Amino acid sequence: MLQGAPWLLAHRAMLKPDKLMKVSLSGNDYVLWQDSKGKISCLPNACPHMGAMLSEGWCVTKPDNSSTVACPFHALEFDSAGCTVLPGSDKPTKSLIKPLELIIQGDFIWSYGGCEPKIPIPTVMNEIAAEYQFIGFTGDRSIKTDFLTLLLNMHDYNHQNGTHRQLFEIEEVQLKQFIDNGFHSHAYIDQPRTKPKFRDILKNPALLLMPKVLQAHLENFFPCMGIMHGESPLLSLKECHLYIPESPNHSRVYVLIFMKAHIPIAHLLKGNLLRLIEVVIEQDVDILGKLYANTPQHIKLNNEVGMDWVRRNYKNFPTVVEPNLSR
Ligand code: FES
Ligand SMILES: [Fe+2]
Repeated sequence: MLQGAPWLLAHRAMLKPDKLMKVSLSGNDYVLWQDSKGKISCLPNACPHMGAMLSEGWCVTKPDNSSTVACPFHALEFDSAGCTVLPGSDKPTKSLIKPLELIIQGDFIWSYGGCEPKIPIPTVMNEIAAEYQFIGFTGDRSIKTDFLTLLLNMHDYNHQNGTHRQLFEIEEVQLKQFIDNGFHSHAYIDQPRTKPKFRDILKNPALLLMPKVLQAHLENFFPCMGIMHGESPLLSLKECHLYIPESPNHSRVYVLIFMKAHIPIAHLLKGNLLRLIEVVIEQDVDILGKLYANTPQHIKLNNEVGMDWVRRNYKNFPTVVEPNLSR
């Protein structure tokens, strides 16, 4: 499953100190936590005693403010190295479960899932974090779908018309440009919107503020993420979509949002933005749950170049092959 790709498992803000988070990656489950000093640890989720899910247990804070994870079954405690102290003993065992190797860059928690790295971690998240304000995370969902299907949906520029029809009222999708740089690509899209009806404007005057043509610049980093760069007079937005292959039939998606306000009032929109994107993800989850898997594709639409890019890279990972899909 794309072995050697980096995966952004979480943003630090998703880990409340001393709270356990279960993460799945390439068929393995892990427990991830942050102690009150900010140290982040990750162990396989199966307790080496009798297999209980450690993520269902709790954190125990130690005098030095580090923390261990306690198993919910018989309360053995494991430290970040996977060692425990058995009852009646006073010294820790050797490591009984091998921690998952993490690469922590600021607030970003990356992992190669224990595989040898084949492609580098994109530096773009660090660049965004240095310049933009972090607004929050939203839409964290585990979807019952294989990873290729998830990626195809996320790079499908036509599904706005169906899946997200009511939300954006897009009339048509015009792909202006696609720049293919191997595992990195840009798509520039114009999406003219239906003219709002008078009665809808009376109901929601904010509709008048929506642009007639929604312009999107999508920057894609195969296979782990896609960024929507949004510009408006109010704010600049970075909507970062993260993708994680959890198992052959489950894939996870979540969104990190960063912004730069051009006028102070833009700060008031933060909550709305998070909710709006949550709805977008919910609509994707819904349609992905209603597909017949492996249906042969007998029709090809315009603007499917993003999906062609995904298929080419998926099939040949970690090598990039022709054709180059720039247009
Ligand atoms: S199963 Fe975890 S302590 Fe027994
Ligand atoms: Fe979507």
